[in-house]
Amino acid sequence: MRHKRLFSGIQPTGELHLGNYFGAITNWVRLQDQWDAIYCVVDYHAMTVEYDSDTMRRRVLEVSALLIACGLDPAKCSLFVQSDVPEHTELMWVLSTLAPMGRLQNMTQFKEKSEKNADNINLGLFAYPVLQAADILIYKAEAVPVGEDQLQHLELSRELARKFNTRFGETFPEPKQLMTEAPRILGLDGKSKMSKSLNNYIGLTETPEQVWEKLRPAYTDPARLRKSDPGNPDICNIFTLHKMVSPKELVLEIDRACRKAEIGCIECKKNLAQNLNNVLDPIRSRYSELEARPGEVLDVLAAGKERCRRTARETMDEVREKTGLRP
Ligand code: TRP
Repeated sequence: MRHKRLFSGIQPTGELHLGNYFGAITNWVRLQDQWDAIYCVVDYHAMTVEYDSDTMRRRVLEVSALLIACGLDPAKCSLFVQSDVPEHTELMWVLSTLAPMGRLQNMTQFKEKSEKNADNINLGLFAYPVLQAADILIYKAEAVPVGEDQLQHLELSRELARKFNTRFGETFPEPKQLMTEAPRILGLDGKSKMSKSLNNYIGLTETPEQVWEKLRPAYTDPARLRKSDPGNPDICNIFTLHKMVSPKELVLEIDRACRKAEIGCIECKKNLAQNLNNVLDPIRSRYSELEARPGEVLDVLAAGKERCRRTARETMDEVREKTGLRP
């Protein structure tokens, strides 16, 4: 039986960290068994803010290798680089003629990024959500696993699908969001979402020593000044991380012992470091294997490109036909 199609994308900016892993990647790995899953490293999107060409070249391969190291299996899903399939930008042009400027102007991400990049508010940044819609629609994907911050963009994708269908005939399914159940992973500051730019993250390829350097001073329950103060795991980000990586019995024990002030934060963090490293070890070793054999990653991306390009061309043929462009 053919599975239904799913699409998601990730930007090749920054080092992948635990927030990406628990928030998105583990979900992607799970979904590749249940869907015809297409995963894309979106380099066109990453160009909409200031960037360095050499860094981009390197990051695209790094992110791809890491995704494979995390468990994306080229035998089960397609993994490719956005700019390898230029039909994305071709469809984007068509969709851009249906996209109301006012809607784009009101996108939260556009407003935020405009503020951060005040000297480079470019057309690409403005049109970013239209390209994202093209990414999804060109494969007629029915589902898109994304976090909350992308819901507005997905809503626009549905709107553009609807508009196209009304104007030119039924073509695109309206893509549904698949929300991750994963709790939001806060950074080591315990305040903001884990992110590269806030430097409050643990990278997936950091060594056990680096992991500990970062965990040791990490923010916990602020009301807990001494080990003898009872703590509150409900508001402690270290506890959230425990829930992601530690065995259930340990999680229950930590919950109990923290509330009774029987375990201190350092001991709790040592336990966490150990269980975190159990999760990261296989990723790190698979990643360094791939680093030693970059041809393997290139082969995966080449296969992904071939497959996706075929589908993308079919959709574009249909779009050209329906919109009155030359065949
Ligand atoms: N905008 C998404 C993000 O920043 C990345 C992305 C690009 C994407 N195209 C997509 C996600 C299509 C889902 C579907 O996270």
